Amino acid sequence: MKKLNWGILATGKIAETVAKSMKYMESIKENNMELLAVASRSADKAEDFAKRHGVKRAYGSYEELVSDPDIDVVYIATPMSCHYENAKLCLNAGKHVLCEKSVTINAGEFKELIDLAKEKRLFFMEAMWMKCQPAFKKAKEWAESGKVGRIKMIKADFSNVVPFDENDRLFIKNLGGGAILDLGVYPITFVCTFLGTRPEEIHTYSHIGKTKVDFDNSIILKYKDAYGITFCGFDFENENKAIIVGDKGRIVMGNWFHCTAETTLYDDMGNVLDKQVLPFKFNGYEYEIEEVNKCIREEKLESDIITHSDTFDIMKIMETCLNQADVKFK
Ligand SMILES: NC(=O)c1ccc[n+]([C@@H]2O[C@H](COP(=O)([O-])OP(=O)(O)OC[C@H]3O[C@@H](n4cnc5c(N)ncnc54)[C@H](OP(=O)(O)O)[C@@H]3O)[C@@H](O)[C@H]2O)c1
Repeated sequence: MKKLNWGILATGKIAETVAKSMKYMESIKENNMELLAVASRSADKAEDFAKRHGVKRAYGSYEELVSDPDIDVVYIATPMSCHYENAKLCLNAGKHVLCEKSVTINAGEFKELIDLAKEKRLFFMEAMWMKCQPAFKKAKEWAESGKVGRIKMIKADFSNVVPFDENDRLFIKNLGGGAILDLGVYPITFVCTFLGTRPEEIHTYSHIGKTKVDFDNSIILKYKDAYGITFCGFDFENENKAIIVGDKGRIVMGNWFHCTAETTLYDDMGNVLDKQVLPFKFNGYEYEIEEVNKCIREEKLESDIITHSDTFDIMKIMETCLNQADVKFK
């Protein structure tokens, strides 16, 4: 089995977390992968990151990383508005790409990237880690095997307190800030996994903060026979539960986003039919890394779990939400 060499592009918060996961994956011989290099806009930051994570090569520019012929796949961990340029750089240099969510700031940019990836015969996937996790897969298996009957309603919330900081990408408009792209992408993806990516109607309610991005939002996705209701925001803590309600029962995921609590299946009388606790093997990101390795080894250009067409449709939904919230990035 060919060894896969990974590079990380950017050294921010999520790059730190995912680097730990990559080192964990690297430590398991059968995975046959290595986190070989990291790149930052600053050579000092790259070296510091490399030292802390035991990464052999550190580059002071993203261009140097993609010029390294030993790198097979690049994980992009920059703010949303940078993904398009960063991903183009990687693809044009012949690298497979795992790109953080939200994959771009609009559907048009994403379409250009997947066209380029296909032309170059390279793998490209949005880092929608949630869809690769065991608890999420269990809920999907129950729903798809008809355990809750016909789905009528899904409710998924995701919020946490982020103190306002005008230098934080979350609040900076030209970095793709705001709760829709940062948090909303998860509950929207959750709803779309079970009800489809083409709702009949989309209704967005949001509060716009002083930097002209949404600090919170609630979105209703209306389907022919069902509703998807999402809430997310930077201004309060919540239980972050997800519930899938069908005409024969329901599935409840406690702390669904981190998938560490119980995932429970109830019948329509409220009796528990099954209850599972499916904790992460490491910190949760190992499953998406595993998926990318598997797909590249099978010479796939896209994952069956996180497909290009789903990612595109979800970007289209978020474009509508951003328009309705009057958040314009360009
Ligand atoms: N999957 C998840 O659970 C998860 C969690 C958090 C975030 N994310 C996603 O990951 C991405 C990064 O988020 P983060 O929280 O890690 O952000 P962050 O801490 O602000 O880090 C972003 C990094 O991007 C690089 N960068 C390149 N151009 C930049 C610019 N113009 N302004 C600021 N930074 C720039 C910087 O690295 P260098 O200076 O080293 O070049 C910076 O450290 C976002 O797309 C976000 O949605 C995913």
